[in-house]
Amino acid sequence: MTEGIERVARLLRAARRPVVFTGAGVSTESGIPDFRSPGGVWDRFDPREMTYQNFVGTEAGRRKYWEIGRHSYPVMRTAQPNPAHLAIAELHRLDRLECCITQNVDNLHQRAGLPEEKVIELHGNATRARCLACGAPYSRDEVQRWLEEEGVDVPACPRCGGIVKPYTILFGEPMPAGAVEEAERRARSADLFIVVGSSLVVYPAAYMPAHARHAGATLVIVNLTPTPYDAHADVVVPGKAGEVMDAVLQRLRSLP
Ligand code: APR
Repeated sequence: MTEGIERVARLLRAARRPVVFTGAGVSTESGIPDFRSPGGVWDRFDPREMTYQNFVGTEAGRRKYWEIGRHSYPVMRTAQPNPAHLAIAELHRLDRLECCITQNVDNLHQRAGLPEEKVIELHGNATRARCLACGAPYSRDEVQRWLEEEGVDVPACPRCGGIVKPYTILFGEPMPAGAVEEAERRARSADLFIVVGSSLVVYPAAYMPAHARHAGATLVIVNLTPTPYDAHADVVVPGKAGEVMDAVLQRLRSLP
């Protein structure tokens, strides 16, 4: 791993437009389970039940969603940024980060110190919600209070009775067009693209490393397990995101 860390630190020092791309694996050391590791979210819940059509189309679908959400949100809400988030935020402070494109909705990159404008959220953000009918905005904390203190099991808009939904993208839901366009533009203009903690199996997010590679960027993958992109990567660093990214940051700081 040390040879990979040395290479990534030197690549970061030399890069003109470094971009970091993260997935759920960057947050597991904060106590938030990922999706496809053993014991991950899709080991416990059926993703076919967690579709946009199910949520919008049926009360039963929304009930199932909120049964899960009422317990998963407090884990996300109390999670703290881990050394991987902190190292990525420090890259920004060292002027070694164009942006962080993330598939995560846990807001931990922002809480680690990355400015909002440096975080491109492809799958939304779990801290905000809104009414799908009248558009009224609600914080997810407020919705959690309805669930916990008011005995609500399927939140409805207090203003119009409409469906309340967090700003997170469900399977079958259109992706945020602006974020996807911005992420593609940034990936295509990157000269260094570092993937941290993603299985790279969910599209269109998983096209981002391909966009970067096709535009000539050096591709780095930091992940606990192999990904379909490993054969196309210039550097693969198997390991834990927190350990690897902190070691890269320390080495980068010590380079002359
Ligand atoms: N350090 C490094 N890698 C890790 C760590 C860690 N501490 N913990 C887990 N990983 C790796 C796993 O080995 C796995 O390859 O992170 C990857 C996480 O993959 P997924 O669980 O598939 O998460 P992600 O790639 O973000 O999934 C993409 O799928 O279900 C949808 O919307 C969901 O945004 C999510 C998308």
